[in-house]
Amino acid sequence: MKLIKEGYSKDNIISYGNMFLLANGRFGYRGTLEEYRKNQLVNFTALGFYDKYQDLWREPINLPNPFYFHVDGGSILEDDIIDHKVELDIKNAVFARFSTFKTVKIESKRFVSSFNKDLLVEEYKVISLCDQTLNISFGLDTDISEINGPHYITKRVKKINNSIVFNGTTNERKLVSLVSTYRCNVPTEFSSENNLHLFKINKEMKKGDEIVVQVFSFVTKFIHTDKLHIFNFERELERHKESFNKLQNDFSISIYGDDEANFEVQYSLYQLLILIDENSVMSIPARGLSGQTYKGAIFWDTEMFILPFLVFSNPKMARNTLVYRINTLGGAKSKAKELGYKGAFYAWESQDDGKERCSKYNVTDPITNEPIRTYFGEKQIHISGDVVLAIDRYVTSTCDTTLLDEGGYQVIDEVVKFYKSFAKKLDDGKYHFLDVIGPDEYHEGINDNAYTNYLIHRAVTIAIKYNDFSNKIKKPVSLEELIEFKNNIYRPSPNENGIIEQFDGYFKLEDVSPEDVKKRTKNPKEYLGGTKGVATPTRVIKQADVIAMLVFLRPSSKIQYLDRNYKFYLPYTEHGSSLSSSAYSIAAALCDDIDAAYSLFRKSSSIDLGGEQKKYAGGVYIGGTHPASNAGAILSLMCGLMGMRVIDEEISFEPHLPDHFEKVEATFLFRGIKYHITVNKEGYKLQGE
Ligand code: BGC
Repeated sequence: MKLIKEGYSKDNIISYGNMFLLANGRFGYRGTLEEYRKNQLVNFTALGFYDKYQDLWREPINLPNPFYFHVDGGSILEDDIIDHKVELDIKNAVFARFSTFKTVKIESKRFVSSFNKDLLVEEYKVISLCDQTLNISFGLDTDISEINGPHYITKRVKKINNSIVFNGTTNERKLVSLVSTYRCNVPTEFSSENNLHLFKINKEMKKGDEIVVQVFSFVTKFIHTDKLHIFNFERELERHKESFNKLQNDFSISIYGDDEANFEVQYSLYQLLILIDENSVMSIPARGLSGQTYKGAIFWDTEMFILPFLVFSNPKMARNTLVYRINTLGGAKSKAKELGYKGAFYAWESQDDGKERCSKYNVTDPITNEPIRTYFGEKQIHISGDVVLAIDRYVTSTCDTTLLDEGGYQVIDEVVKFYKSFAKKLDDGKYHFLDVIGPDEYHEGINDNAYTNYLIHRAVTIAIKYNDFSNKIKKPVSLEELIEFKNNIYRPSPNENGIIEQFDGYFKLEDVSPEDVKKRTKNPKEYLGGTKGVATPTRVIKQADVIAMLVFLRPSSKIQYLDRNYKFYLPYTEHGSSLSSSAYSIAAALCDDIDAAYSLFRKSSSIDLGGEQKKYAGGVYIGGTHPASNAGAILSLMCGLMGMRVIDEEISFEPHLPDHFEKVEATFLFRGIKYHITVNKEGYKLQGE
């Protein structure tokens, strides 16, 4: 199954870079063309390898580009193109390019090895379309694309035989080594100029003659250039495909009767599978491996959207993302302490060390370029509860309780301790959570956010459930205290119309639609929330909030109000975050609003395929891929349209399929068993292996 785009337009350079992204959970390489340079956003991004330059934002580093090629008469940026096509084989994670110019034809094939995680491979072919003398150059481009750089204080390049060895040192004094070997069927000369370290060919060619170059680029400190001859293109390609296919063994999902939607789902799956590294000690950043936006940071996206997919598809990777939270507990504890609280307040934007990396000025005014003060890091306290919920989801879906012994329970305990120290017991005898931000980031500094308070209640319930596991560790909060805390957490109740107020005072805000609020902006990139945003004094919300609470937590005493809350909040929701539509799609399906469920599901599944996506938060560029939306699409299909429910370890389905769906088939893991499910309008058939 392939994603194919024919024709060429410079306007698509950035979006195709995301769309045709290759990655292997450790490195990402954007779907750019070989003649591109940093201005076309060539990014070879490393996961978990961050660097900070002066007082700019700390972000993941990019490596130099080993796949730079230039052919006279064959550069899409300079020469007239006759025919052009790019392809992404999403079952095998292989990128291919076919371009015909007047005098040459270019074909390339590229993969980021899923088998050998430090290896990236490319084959580049130039076919002469006439008798001519052809100039071709290829090699390493060390003019690296960086948003908040420069990240390298030294860049050393050395040519050894047919290899180029790069050694760089970052501002944080980390070493980056990349060895790239270039195999070509004709002799070459070598020269370095202006950050381009190139093998050059000047050759008389007859019509039909071919020049083929194979590049093996290896990120390492240890491999010696003479070891690079071990790589064989076909063998590495086979190994890569086999490993990538293995990732698809335990999970698949297909829609029959809607080819477009089915393709988007397969593509969403692709975007998720390229982020899996079963040996990773890192988690999955909000923009995957598509570059440096969002500081390469890990947000609640992983716990609330991606992890529920991972427990069904790759429990090992699901576990890795939680071990990452266990390993970064220190960062969460320091953040709590710095802000005057106890326990663990996880970073809203977390990198390798778990320290808070969310800037105090995360967006800018697109007109004045002034930074705008935001409080996401200080006030979005739900992040800690999201981690607890994810731990519980992992343990209950996999039966792997070892995670609790290996630090999981300690995380739960420290989170509860944080919430206890954050809570204010008011005159009603209840614990309130004041001056927070919920998932709807437009309204800052609000009191008693429904999502946050219900989540905290759930987190404390989870802490009580696993209390036995805590025997081995020093308990920061006793069982009696936990019970007292849980019983007195204030959770807003539905009003006389059955609506749960998103936060204290929300109902009093101006009743206006997102469309009308947007008309009040002076610039299309303007940030709608925060102190001065046009949405702030209104009921317009950025994303699912009460609906996220009802859909993700399904509190048994409140779930009957889903329908009324869905109808109430949907018209106020801007869906300014890519996370929003999947939560609403599930709600819509459960409320039998199938048309809305289907279109919101498609909004999630098409996000990286040219569907609507926000590229700016204020004036700050935030483009890239959207793994949480990809996972959200799969979850809306499973938990919404297919109506999957897990109650007391029993799985059931209540289909809400659109009329044109013949059936949906899926394979997934649950509690160590592999299940096959077929759902159609009449019902479902579930089989365990
Ligand atoms: C959303 C957050 C999300 C972040 C990263 C923001 O726009 O409001 O909920 O975690 O993007 O995807």
